[in-house]
Amino acid sequence: MTQPSWNWSDAEQREIALGFDLETFDEGFIENPYPAYRAIRRHNPVCRLPDGTYFISRYRDLVTILRDADRFISDKRVDFKKKFGESALFEHHTTSVVFNDPPLHTRMRALMTPFFSPHALSTLKPRVETFVEGLLDRLEEKRRFDLKLDFAQALPLNLVGDMLGVPVEERTPLADWAVLILGALEPSLTEEDFKKGCDAVDEFKAYLQALIESKRLSPGSRDDFDILGALVDAETLEGKLSELELLHNCIFLLNAGQDTTTSLIVNGVEALFRFPEALEKLRRRPELLATAVDEMLRLESPLQIGNRKCVVDFDLDGHKLPEGAFLHIGIGCANHDESYFDNAESLDIERYPNKHLAFSKGIHTCAGNALGRLEIEVAIGKLLERFPNLHPTGNLVRGPRARFRSVMGYPMAID
Ligand code: HEM
Repeated sequence: MTQPSWNWSDAEQREIALGFDLETFDEGFIENPYPAYRAIRRHNPVCRLPDGTYFISRYRDLVTILRDADRFISDKRVDFKKKFGESALFEHHTTSVVFNDPPLHTRMRALMTPFFSPHALSTLKPRVETFVEGLLDRLEEKRRFDLKLDFAQALPLNLVGDMLGVPVEERTPLADWAVLILGALEPSLTEEDFKKGCDAVDEFKAYLQALIESKRLSPGSRDDFDILGALVDAETLEGKLSELELLHNCIFLLNAGQDTTTSLIVNGVEALFRFPEALEKLRRRPELLATAVDEMLRLESPLQIGNRKCVVDFDLDGHKLPEGAFLHIGIGCANHDESYFDNAESLDIERYPNKHLAFSKGIHTCAGNALGRLEIEVAIGKLLERFPNLHPTGNLVRGPRARFRSVMGYPMAID
C-alpha cells in the first residue's frame, strides 16, 4: 500500500479497497489506517480478504452483526484450533468470556458484573484519583517523561492488580504478559510471537494458581475490590467458575483493561495536540471531559478490529455472507463512517449523542467500560489541570499492530 493519503483519487481508493489484506499491511497503514478504511467503506464495504475471511467496515453493518449473537457467534474453537493448535494460547483464548457464547458466556459474565456496578466504581474513584495524583507528582519532578511509560500504563496495571489482589511488588510482569497474549490475536502471527504468547499464558497461569492457593488459605479478609478473592470465596456457589475458567478469565480481565485503557489515554492526549482548538476548549471548559473522552474513544478506538463468525447464510445489506464466514469487525473503521458521524475525521469534544462502537454492542459490550471511562477521565482531566504547559517533544510511536491502536511511547515535557 502507498503512504496513507486523504487525497487518493477515486481510482486509487478503489484499488486499495479491492487489494486490502490484513496479513500484509505496512507501516503506513499502522500509522494511519483511516484513509484506507474510508476507501473500503466506499468501494468494498463487505471486503473479502485473500484468506477467505471478511472485513466489515460500515457502521450500520456492524450494528446488525453485533446485535445478533445467535447468527454471529463469538466461540472461536474451530478457528483458533487452526491458528493456535493444542496450545496454551488456544486454552486461554477459548476459555475467556469474550470468546464464548451463551449459556457459558452468560454464566461467566453474571459473575463478573457486580464488580463493575456503579456502587463498586463509586468506591473505587477516590483510589483512582489518589493514584493519578501520585503519578503526576513524579512527572512534575521529572519535567520530561514518556506519557505511556511513566503515566498511562501504570494506572490500569495497578487497578487491575488491586482487582486481582496481586501484591504491588509482583505487578511488573503483568503488563508484558498482557501484550504478548493479546498480540497473538493479530491477523498475522510469527512463530516467535506464538511461542512468547504461549509462554506468557503458562507463566501467568502458574502465578495466579499460587495466588489463588494463598487466597484459599486466608478466606474472608478481602479488599472491597478484590475480584479474584471474591471468586475464590464463591467457589461453592451454584454457577461458579471452574478453576481453569477462573484462571483464564482473571488473565483476560487483566489483559482487557490494560492496553486498551493505556492506549486511549495516550492517543486521546495526542489527538488533543493534533486538534489544538479542542485542547484549548477542554482546558477552558473541563465540564466537557466526559463527552471529550467518548469522542477520543470514537476517533482512536483502542480495539480497532473484533471478530465474529457467521453461522447461517446471511444477506448483509445486499452482500452475501456464507455460513461459516469468519468476520473481522472493523470497529475503528465504522467509528469513522461519514454516513453516520458528521465530520468523522475531526475531534469534536462536544459530540452528543456519540453512539460509537469502541466498547462494542450487544451481549459482549465491554464489561469494564465504566471503569475504563473512569480511569481515562481522571487521568486526562488531572493531567491537563495540573500541567498547563504540557507539550509533546516528539512524535507518538505506534506499536506494530492492526487489531489494537497500540502505542510504544509519546515523549512529553512540562517546561
Ligand atoms: C478504553 C478501555 C476499553 C476498551 C476500548 C474496551 C473495549 C472492549 C471491547 C470492544 C469489547 C468487546 C469485544 C467484542 O465484542 O468481541 C470488550 C469486552 C470486554 N472488556 Fe473491555 N475495553 C476497555 C476496558 C476494559 C476494562 C478496564 C475492563 C476490566 C478490567 C474490561 C473488561 C472487558 C470484559 C470482561 C469484556 C468481555 C465482555 C463479554 O464478552 O461479555 N475492558 N472490551
